[in-house]
Amino acid sequence: MAQSVKGMRDLFGAELRWFQHIEETARRVFERHGYSEIRTPILEELDVFKRSVGESSDIVNKEMYEFTDRGGRRVVMRPEATAGIVRAAIQHKLLASSDPVLFYCIGPQFRYERMQTGRYRQFWQIDAESLGVATPESEAESLLMLHSFLKELGLRHLVFSINSVGTPESRPAFHAAFRAFFAQRENLFCADCHRRVETNPLRVLDCKNETCQAALEGHPVITDHLDEASARHHLRLKELLMELGLPFEENPRLVRGLDYYTRTAFEVLSSDLGAQSALLGGGRYDGLVKQLGGPEVPGFGWAIGLDRLAIVLQQVRGKAPYAPPALLIPLGDRAATEALKLARSLWDAGVALQLETRGGALKKAMATANRTGVETVLILGDGELDGGTITVKHMATGEQEIWPLGEVAARLK
Ligand code: HAM
Repeated sequence: MAQSVKGMRDLFGAELRWFQHIEETARRVFERHGYSEIRTPILEELDVFKRSVGESSDIVNKEMYEFTDRGGRRVVMRPEATAGIVRAAIQHKLLASSDPVLFYCIGPQFRYERMQTGRYRQFWQIDAESLGVATPESEAESLLMLHSFLKELGLRHLVFSINSVGTPESRPAFHAAFRAFFAQRENLFCADCHRRVETNPLRVLDCKNETCQAALEGHPVITDHLDEASARHHLRLKELLMELGLPFEENPRLVRGLDYYTRTAFEVLSSDLGAQSALLGGGRYDGLVKQLGGPEVPGFGWAIGLDRLAIVLQQVRGKAPYAPPALLIPLGDRAATEALKLARSLWDAGVALQLETRGGALKKAMATANRTGVETVLILGDGELDGGTITVKHMATGEQEIWPLGEVAARLK
């Protein structure tokens, strides 16, 4: 029997109901904030991610699905949404004026990762990007949107973990201080960290190894080495978050797994996902548009893992809100024809209804209604047809009543 590819799963039933509910909520909240949807291709040229997510990242180094297509192009199945959105904004000259460009994108991403709870090789992201504005206010706006999105889904008690990773200009000062600290205790760090301290010292802070985390005790903190403008920016964002009552904590070890971040970086972890799994993450990327060949335009955004969000919501709220449509069961040949006609008029009137078309025993049809959680069952037999009525059974109470056929649409609505 053929199986789905490892790390890639079929979505249906209760899990997909959560996906749908989350997506509807996202669209409603984001459109309310003036964001528009963008859909970019799954395949991008390899360079799009090499030049953005970065060659020192795990994603580019070991997790991308990359291959040569039949025309000899090196292509990648996108591992994240930001780089493709920025590529699209440049390509379609959307950044030519100084107007902000606000986009959201919902879709699958691909990373060849080791599987665990909430970690898949094909997963879904909901991504929001604000291009063209460099202010802390734009970050506060974006985080408010994220916060209402999660609140409307029924999540409470979320704390944003924030840091500033400075700018490419201010980072060398931190790198120097960090390398000096590292040199004093280098035998305590793993081999990977020895490599990281050369290529990108920030990544040492992100090492999952407990011994390395312990050895980091008292490490130089990047926010102590910020340039003046970045320090002011960071302070202002914190002021705004406090003013708005958005809960946050500063985390000087927060470094994101992607190379394009400047200044603000943030994440939300969730204990429902097991060890140290991020529910969402994002930050500012003021150099990215330029790096991908566009004008000097700043950006800020975040992405939340839809799969992970669905797991968390299932823990917190149980089943996704969903009411199956009423079920119409005809008894006998005459009723089977009339039921099709009745169903058509109800569907045309916008009523949700499922039609039992198997024919045969009422018992079988009622068993299906029980299994699928149908609340209202409509039974149409010869007696009902003669009287111009229909029998209605409310499954929760077992109560039965008779409705005139002409009132079914209005009553079901
Ligand atoms: P990221 O932290 O790599 O950031 O991914 C964002 C979210 O995607 C994670 O917090 C997680 O929920 C989900 N995710 C990542 N990998 C997996 C996986 N293998 N399985 C399931 N879920 C996963 C980005 O991708 C950036 N583009 C975020 C961003 C947008 N920064 C600025 N704008």
